[in-house]
Amino acid sequence: MELDDIDRVTVLGAGSMGHGITEVVALAGYQVTMRDIEQEYVDDGYDSIKWSLEKLAEKGIVDQTPEEVLNRIETAVDLGEAVSDADLVIEAAPEQMSLKKDIFGELDDLAPEGAILATNTSSLSITEIASATDRPESVVGTHFFNPPVKMDLVEVIYGAETADETAETAYAFVEAIGKTPIYVRKDVNGFVVNSVLGPFGDEAAWMVSGEEASVRQADATMVHERGYPMGPFELSDLTGIDIGYSVRKEAGKPIPPVVQEKVDAEELGQKTGKGYYDYESGDGADYQPEDADGEFDWLRIEARMINEAAKLIGDDVATAEAIDIGMRLGAGFPEGPCRRADKLGLDTVLEKLRERHEATGEDRYDPAAYLEDLVEAGKTGEDASEGFYNYGGEGGERHYTTINADLNEDGLLEVELDRPERLNALNGDLMDEVVHLLETTPTEDVRCVTFEGTGDRAFSAGADITGFSGMEPHEAGVTEFFEVVAEYPRPTLAKIQGFCLGGGHELALACDLRIATEDSEFGFPEINLGLIPGGGGTQRAMRMLTDARAKELVFRGNRIDAETAEEWGLINRAVPESEFDDTVEEFLDDLVHGAPIALGKAKQVMNAGRDQDLSAGLELESQAFGLLLTTEDMKEGTSAFMEKRDAEFEGR
Ligand code: COA
Repeated sequence: MELDDIDRVTVLGAGSMGHGITEVVALAGYQVTMRDIEQEYVDDGYDSIKWSLEKLAEKGIVDQTPEEVLNRIETAVDLGEAVSDADLVIEAAPEQMSLKKDIFGELDDLAPEGAILATNTSSLSITEIASATDRPESVVGTHFFNPPVKMDLVEVIYGAETADETAETAYAFVEAIGKTPIYVRKDVNGFVVNSVLGPFGDEAAWMVSGEEASVRQADATMVHERGYPMGPFELSDLTGIDIGYSVRKEAGKPIPPVVQEKVDAEELGQKTGKGYYDYESGDGADYQPEDADGEFDWLRIEARMINEAAKLIGDDVATAEAIDIGMRLGAGFPEGPCRRADKLGLDTVLEKLRERHEATGEDRYDPAAYLEDLVEAGKTGEDASEGFYNYGGEGGERHYTTINADLNEDGLLEVELDRPERLNALNGDLMDEVVHLLETTPTEDVRCVTFEGTGDRAFSAGADITGFSGMEPHEAGVTEFFEVVAEYPRPTLAKIQGFCLGGGHELALACDLRIATEDSEFGFPEINLGLIPGGGGTQRAMRMLTDARAKELVFRGNRIDAETAEEWGLINRAVPESEFDDTVEEFLDDLVHGAPIALGKAKQVMNAGRDQDLSAGLELESQAFGLLLTTEDMKEGTSAFMEKRDAEFEGR
């Protein structure tokens, strides 16, 4: 069975995963049948899909009407009827092995020969589920994350007998429905994301159990110093402390005493009103940025996660890249653990594990052979030009983790900002990788550069806010990135579809030309964070727009639509989605095929003329940006953003 052979999909289960998967599959244009064991469950699931589709349409996230999508969904209670002509079945029943085996046993009798039988289990063995059938080669894991409509990641998991063809078609199908698949090549407990995530909560719990840290200190440090979307205890309260407890029990792992105490007291997290935080009489996860006091040994947590990643790579379960994508998309990590390890230095990571192992004798610090081998071979990370990834050491090409780049024969260099999970927000890595790309690609091979965002929502929603809090003013050296783009000796064009905000907007302004779809939005929201544009935006906006319009954008932090942006002279064209590619093509035709030396000179002299006093302006802007990074207002603004509440500024 290949992707083209898949026409009809059946989802078994109409609960939160089942109806979510059904919705995603139908949105992608497939005919799908959603089946549950009672009409009542099916109806509830159907209503939830309808509600969700209405929300998506209201917010303008999809341009199909709810009716169009619902027309592709059929419902069923009878299993035979639901799967009789299915090419792909995705089972999303409750997480009980006996139940799943019953279902797969029945599927074996009822589903057409050759159909792919996928299970959405998040924790059970694919091999064991497949053993209930006489066709284990057709059984594969497709682990969607909750909620499927929002979460981009799907783990595609091999059972012991899964055929390559089955896994490859499942992988292609996941791509076809607009999600990002990663291969999990062996049926390991927890697959990739939950395996690597395990130590995040576990190590923190051991540290609190050993009275080496407090709950608030751990959470505040991981969020405000290390950029994770949630603290380990906050996360545990959200998912349920009993869940982590039973996962450890089943895996035969020791239980940290704080976890045992909470389970004994039946304080299991948000669902019981109390866990590590009090959600009934207290304010919930109320740790503050100042609880991150610089004393918490976060490396213990990160070293263990990196160690898990190294085990998976060494055991051929997943590649470093798959793991990093998995953790970014599936767990909201600011960057993947392998990439982060390469920055920390693998020797530093290994040393931490060995030190803990020696001090405690506990298995959980046992270093992975793969990690030891890398360190022994001198591949200690970015500084050594090689670690989990290659950074251009010994004939290797640098591997980019936040951008995709392609240079075609005509000399068109296409750069995609590839952090869709953060609306392509610019972080240090991304800026670094773009600079590296532009500086190392031979200029004579390039005639024009385009920038665009991946995903369908944003060009870029700005600098990555989650990285701001721990930043020192001298680290705010973002200007280089924008300057390298602005001064690139070939014409540059920004292809804008969706949000073009803050640093993303500044990147677009650093390009020579800008074409946007009509539904794009432009703005400088920095003021709402207690900041100002820090990538040349204040200066470039003043030069491109009237004084009044530039100040309106920067002072008010509001967004303008593409039509207004065109009228104001901020962009070259605002066009309907359907005309976007053609318009871009027309421009590129001139840029790629125009006289390169003349184009280069034209750019150089036009910019120089415009920018006579730019350096002074940029210097001032950079000083002000650095100063603002130290203010309480900026900390308040960034915390408020992450907590999804309104900021209260005090002018401090
Ligand atoms: N930095 C880091 N993460 C960002 C981000 C940024 N600049 N902009 C968006 N994201 C993340 C969100 O936190 C969210 O992550 P989550 O799913 O883990 O919660 C994800 O991208 C999707 O964004 P979301 O806010 O859920 O989408 P939305 O449609 O509700 O709103 C925006 C879209 C662009 C209006 C909103 O994300 C926003 O205001 N972003 C910040 C823009 C900004 O201030 N940029 C200037 C920075 S200097």
